[in-house]
Amino acid sequence: MSIARRLASLAFLALGSLITLGGQPAWATGTAAGTAPVGTQAKTAERADTSTALFPAGWPFPADRTPAAGSRGMVVSADTLASAAGLAVLREGGNAIDAAVAVHFALAVVYPQAGNLGGGGFMVVRTADGREATLDFRERAPLAAGRDMYVDEDGKAGSASRTGHLAAGVPGSVAGMAKAHRRFGRLAWDRLLEPARRLAAEGFPVSERLHDALTAQLERFSHFPATAAIFLPDGRPPSRGAVLRQPDLARSLEAISDSGPHAFYRGWIADSVVAEMERGGGLISKRDLEEYRAIWRGPIVIQYAGRRLISMGPPSGGGVVLGEMLGMLERFDLRGLEYRSADEIHLMTEAMRRAYADRNRHLGDPDFVSVPIDRLLSPAYLDSLGKTIDPERATPSEPDVAVAPESAQTTHYSVLDSAGNAVAVTTTINGSFGSAAVVRGAGFLLNNEMDDFTTRPGEPNMYGLVQGESNSIAPGKRMLSAMTPTIVVAPDGRTELVTGTPGGPTITTSVLQVVVAQLDHGLGAQQAVNAPRVHHQHLPDLLRYERGGLEPSVIEELERRGHRIEERAGFSGDVQSIYVSPDGVRYGAADPRGGGAALGY
Ligand code: DON
Repeated sequence: MSIARRLASLAFLALGSLITLGGQPAWATGTAAGTAPVGTQAKTAERADTSTALFPAGWPFPADRTPAAGSRGMVVSADTLASAAGLAVLREGGNAIDAAVAVHFALAVVYPQAGNLGGGGFMVVRTADGREATLDFRERAPLAAGRDMYVDEDGKAGSASRTGHLAAGVPGSVAGMAKAHRRFGRLAWDRLLEPARRLAAEGFPVSERLHDALTAQLERFSHFPATAAIFLPDGRPPSRGAVLRQPDLARSLEAISDSGPHAFYRGWIADSVVAEMERGGGLISKRDLEEYRAIWRGPIVIQYAGRRLISMGPPSGGGVVLGEMLGMLERFDLRGLEYRSADEIHLMTEAMRRAYADRNRHLGDPDFVSVPIDRLLSPAYLDSLGKTIDPERATPSEPDVAVAPESAQTTHYSVLDSAGNAVAVTTTINGSFGSAAVVRGAGFLLNNEMDDFTTRPGEPNMYGLVQGESNSIAPGKRMLSAMTPTIVVAPDGRTELVTGTPGGPTITTSVLQVVVAQLDHGLGAQQAVNAPRVHHQHLPDLLRYERGGLEPSVIEELERRGHRIEERAGFSGDVQSIYVSPDGVRYGAADPRGGGAALGY
């Protein structure tokens, strides 16, 4: 190492753990290892334009916020305490997979809206020596589930796929973490669960975000006494700063720490899940839990802008949809267009529309339906699809349907270690606090992932997605997801970007816009995360944008081209990204839309 480089890295170490806090609760800033400005080095990763040049004047998130920076490792997650758990593992010599496991379990405690033991997700790994792996730990339908289980006598799908025990798929998270750790982990399993166990046993201060999220659940939780007993002590959400302890969850984490996934899928936790199902009329059986397996699957590999993108394949539609969108857009050369101009938003919208139509028609669990991945991502098909895009006119999606309300939570975390191993994980219990049903005695919430299936063909689900037979319910089948954990590899072979987000169907379109902002328009990691986003999902035929995210003149021009356009409620997603510059500096960018934190060293 040259003296200059060594001095530079010493300077980074001297700054300690550097942090960006997005919409951070006040209590958390004190727990972070440091809030020092990252200095001029970080700025080199950001595009130099001022905020007004880059984002519309009314946009609330700045373009001149610098990301966290580190010369060795970086953890970006939706919660400071979870990021800190991951950072401690990295500092102790754990690798990115070890840190990811610690983050996952910590999120299950401090971010119960989405972090979980009772849910599932997807992990994309790229090791320092270039090995790539994608892990499916998605939930499965119970063996007693059936195609029309949610359809009532009037032929309507009721609310049972969203709230209560019947909404739960067989959880995959514990199996997934154990499988990833077995293959790639370095530190002992129990070390990685220790931060989560302590946070559950000793408690943590409730953030404003959690307080607000619990307040929104008051009515829903009132039907689930075991849930209310944990999250609504004295019948109310704990106030901001109050310490929330979860002793049952601590016991579950201790059992998993001592006995591995066995404790969850065969031991007393499994018995508790089955007892809970019997109490609440759910379907998950002992056999469902025993038979659950996380699965290593082939990655979706996408070539774009001279890069290699590694993303998640079915049963997530994320990689295929991202590949289709980028494949169509590559044929239009976005680099030559003004960033977020009407021309660019129009082309992106048309690519989104077409890719989501394919998603809803063709994608599902590859163990149950044949998914034409190769055809959908073939250059010939993308050529023909790209040719149907009229640069001047919106193509109507037919038939149209009513807009379903959008809600809910999922979470993404990105980790990079000093050797260069990278992990991107998106995990969920689907809606905010999942099914709202807690497993009594085990202290964790069950997912409501069954709603991601086509509960009734032609009828929109919770996210307004109108899906087809390929994603219909069958015993043991995995429900189609939009989760898109993605790693971008630069032409020089380094891992360049690790990213992903929650947001239901907006997940994949958000990842698209982060990728395009960085690779085509040269935005830095924090700028690409802070930037406004749009979304189209074929049906409903509606282009949605975030408040203040489009210039009025752009809206006008898009309407002139035939787009039905609407401002959405709230914001799109909660992206957590890591960017690695050519000289190896790791930049961590937490989304200011959420309360996440990037911690590096
Ligand atoms: O797997 C999926 O696509 C959904 N269950 C994700 C839900 C979600 O992102 C909600 N978050 N905001």
